[in-house]
Amino acid sequence: MINSRADWKAPILAGVRRPNLLRSSRSWGNRPLLMMEARMEAESEGDTNLSGRRSAWQRGALDPAARSLLARDSRAFLHQSVSTPCLNAITRAEGIWIEDMAGRRYMDFHGNNAHHIGYGHPRLKRAIVEQMEALSFAPRRYACEPAVALAEKLGMIAPGNLAKVLFTTGGSDAVEVAVKIARAFTGRFKTLSFWDSFHGAGIGAAALSGEALFRSGPAAPLVAGAQHLAPFACYRCPYGHEADEDGHPFLARCHTACVEMVEYVLAREGDVAAVIAEPARAVPYVPPPGYWQEVRAACDRHGALLIFDEIPTGLGKTGRMFACEHDDVVPDILVLGKALGGGMLPIAAVIARPELDVGAEWAFGHYTHEKNPITARAALTTIEIIEDEQLVPHAARIGEIALTRMAEMKRRLPAIGDVRGRGLLLGIELVQSRTEKQPDAALAETVLYRALDAGLSFKTTMGNVLTLTPPLITTEAEMLRALDIVEEAIATGREKG
Ligand SMILES: Cc1ncc(COP(=O)(O)O)c(C=O)c1O
Repeated sequence: MINSRADWKAPILAGVRRPNLLRSSRSWGNRPLLMMEARMEAESEGDTNLSGRRSAWQRGALDPAARSLLARDSRAFLHQSVSTPCLNAITRAEGIWIEDMAGRRYMDFHGNNAHHIGYGHPRLKRAIVEQMEALSFAPRRYACEPAVALAEKLGMIAPGNLAKVLFTTGGSDAVEVAVKIARAFTGRFKTLSFWDSFHGAGIGAAALSGEALFRSGPAAPLVAGAQHLAPFACYRCPYGHEADEDGHPFLARCHTACVEMVEYVLAREGDVAAVIAEPARAVPYVPPPGYWQEVRAACDRHGALLIFDEIPTGLGKTGRMFACEHDDVVPDILVLGKALGGGMLPIAAVIARPELDVGAEWAFGHYTHEKNPITARAALTTIEIIEDEQLVPHAARIGEIALTRMAEMKRRLPAIGDVRGRGLLLGIELVQSRTEKQPDAALAETVLYRALDAGLSFKTTMGNVLTLTPPLITTEAEMLRALDIVEEAIATGREKG
């Protein structure tokens, strides 16, 4: 059991891969120590691309053609953590599958959460081609039918009275637009967001994010007024409270300290413009019961807006059209991205309460592709596909099956400390021992490569959480096959890893 903050901290740090931190520190200026400190908790977003295990896997698994393309990629692109140099190269993406240069196929249980409807959906391809023929661009100052239709559609499906929109090309921009709207409406500039969150790579969005990888070192100085709080994380509660066997909080004992701190900070600051958060954290972590309702009420009491970043979770990923619907809470602004473009085109959206339309004299979302008819058509068609193919209830059903199967897996394998998730946002946390909970990042990485060898691709978060985010079209058989692969890889990972 983890009883004190010191106890909690030790296992987290134990999962950090220090040799890689040192190696990457050399490439930045002459301040390796500072860089290493800044990157101590740098594994929340994804698996590292610099590890020895990765190189070993690549030496064994990749054919000469893939190696040659990766070498060109590495020469041509600026290197950055969790990205370039790349893992492998692909030539096809179809349905739930990606295919590498040697023709090996992988079920893609990562997909950047952009592939809800599966890759290369024929209806989406047709709609995009037809739109390219009809109208391929709308310069600013001109309305066009697909952009208006998409705005209206989002207003219809969004929770509560959220109805007025702005579009951007990427999620990071959309998050920043949302903050600007909150500033205009409240006349305040401070924000409250969460450590370990990610809201985008732009300087503004990175300031809201809670990961050293994006906000420290060369990213500084950040946007003033961006305050942070420890998030809900019942299995590893930052406030030192215990969870029960299933990772649920002992509400009576912990008094949901994580939510009380939100009110505390809002009251102490007195002038926060907005609380911004992912309603279900991508790690993944689902909120304790009532968490968002309490935060909503605290925001209302202190005049702060509530912005939900549903860039990965929106459009059905969690088994509801929007993750916040599980908690019965309507934010003031909701941000969408990723899957909105159907896994083909980049588009993100900000959907706000009509009362927040107070920025007519400013230019919050002055983007070249603000009303691009092709990206708008792609988004509109993607939503229609999700509705017509009833992918949201399907995701809920497959997610339930997966969670049941994961719970069985946990009973069999002591290396699994926790299983959790909602819909198709699923996590399996690997530990060295269930009592001490030290993260087993080495095993997680071994499992990652063993799963790739067996035809399954996913990513790890926080170093030791196998994070499975399959597309909404995943069938029961595919889900069970993927979990068989994961179980086999965990079961054999320690002995042979
Ligand atoms: C929660 C969240 N917000 C924002 C973003 C940024 O989106 P984009 O990469 O489109 O800028 C991401 C991307 O991973 C995300 O997961």
